Amino acid sequence: MNSYNSIASDVRVGKDVKLSRFINLYGCEIGDETKIGAFVEIQKNASVGKRCKISSHSFVCEGVVIEDNVFIGHGVMFINDTYPRATTEHGELQTEADWKVERTTIRKGASIGSNATILANVEIGENAIVGAGSVVTRDVPANAVVAGNPAKVIRIIEGNKENEMPKAIPFLDLVTPHLELERELTNAFRQGLRTAGFIGGPVVERFEDAFASFCNASRAVAVSSGTDALRFAIMACGIQPGDVVLTVPNTFIATTEAISQARAIPEFVDIDEQTYNMSPAMLQRYLEKQCIRDRTGRLISLRSGRPVTAVIPVHLYGQIADMDAILALAEQYGLTVIEDACQAHGAEYFSKRLNRWMRAGSMGRAAAFSFYPGKNLGACGEGGAVTTNDGALADKIKMIRDHGQVKKYYHDVEGYNGRLDAIQAGILHAKLPHLASWNLQRRDRATEYNRLMETHEGISLPYEPEWSHFT
Ligand SMILES: Cc1ncc(COP(=O)(O)O)c(C=O)c1O
Repeated sequence: MNSYNSIASDVRVGKDVKLSRFINLYGCEIGDETKIGAFVEIQKNASVGKRCKISSHSFVCEGVVIEDNVFIGHGVMFINDTYPRATTEHGELQTEADWKVERTTIRKGASIGSNATILANVEIGENAIVGAGSVVTRDVPANAVVAGNPAKVIRIIEGNKENEMPKAIPFLDLVTPHLELERELTNAFRQGLRTAGFIGGPVVERFEDAFASFCNASRAVAVSSGTDALRFAIMACGIQPGDVVLTVPNTFIATTEAISQARAIPEFVDIDEQTYNMSPAMLQRYLEKQCIRDRTGRLISLRSGRPVTAVIPVHLYGQIADMDAILALAEQYGLTVIEDACQAHGAEYFSKRLNRWMRAGSMGRAAAFSFYPGKNLGACGEGGAVTTNDGALADKIKMIRDHGQVKKYYHDVEGYNGRLDAIQAGILHAKLPHLASWNLQRRDRATEYNRLMETHEGISLPYEPEWSHFT
């Protein structure tokens, strides 16, 4: 202690406490080994625990309890009355008797950044961190990091104690990209509200153009889900009720649902053991051994006795099926190819036949994408799209998604209510420029998982053929 301080005789100071100059303490308690910086005031009935650090210019008022190992930055202000007033209701200056002191507790190990203000009647949890300049208006949970005015939780600090059980790794973090793009996404929503343009219109068309160009396809038609995209593509391609559509068993159920909802019959061709996608060898065997030609030359399935007219390879887990071989067989047998690209936004395939990289969605007669929130390009709700290089086919899909009409109330065919709403289109358009870098981030993490797992016996790592790539 030194002569520049004002320390009242009722202050209880612990062992090895370090006090700087110009401090003002009265009626309070300071724990062992705590350090108090210059120009700090600590009032009566406040207590500071052991091994705390109270930096200069902070004000700790009556009613504040600071537990052990707490860090208080410079100029931190505590307040101990929710509604402080200078005068009483009769206009006289308030005295201590009028002042209602509320308690504020800072739990063990918490840190409060410089210039933060802590309002009365709050508790700051163990090991929590309050960002510099924050205004804390309500309780802060243990281990939370809060910032801003009013302070909000921005993250939770993960435990790092040696004997702690490892935490489950979330399969997918859908929150962070939405927080990072919050401004753009809210703008898309706001635009919808301000124009009441909820269905169709320029926002949907702009997204369709941008997505078609991302896929290197000439057209994209936005619809209400990946399942609808598949079903509308099957219908628009002229697959008839009772026709057989070939696909793989190793897919999400929506692939076969779309086939049967279009009143066609799904038949399975098995997958390649390495890529987990449609095996061209199995497709060839099916076409050669399990089909015959009828008198008119139609290809007939021996399994169902029905004509085989289409094939839907699925680009599962972002890896494109071996399209050169599948397209060649389809051409030989007169089959329509529809890509199920619901998991393959931005995936690429090196076509030896064309000697160039091709994007998912640009190779079949049509391709279906899903914008379910967990997909690489996900909406904030449901959504999907069909891409194609055939303008007439795109127009047909537009008609099917909109109750079979091109002109309002002129319904040429029986259609569906299968449109993508404009707010989702605006949201997807705001996300689209980030898709390539998000895909790269997924690849980086996949590479790291591969590295960590490659030495474990009994685990076969995903196989990536040289013709497959993700941008
Ligand atoms: C391979 C595949 N096909 C189709 C779909 C259906 O998409 P949606 O859920 O948007 O209808 C999905 C979605 O999970 C999928 O993964």
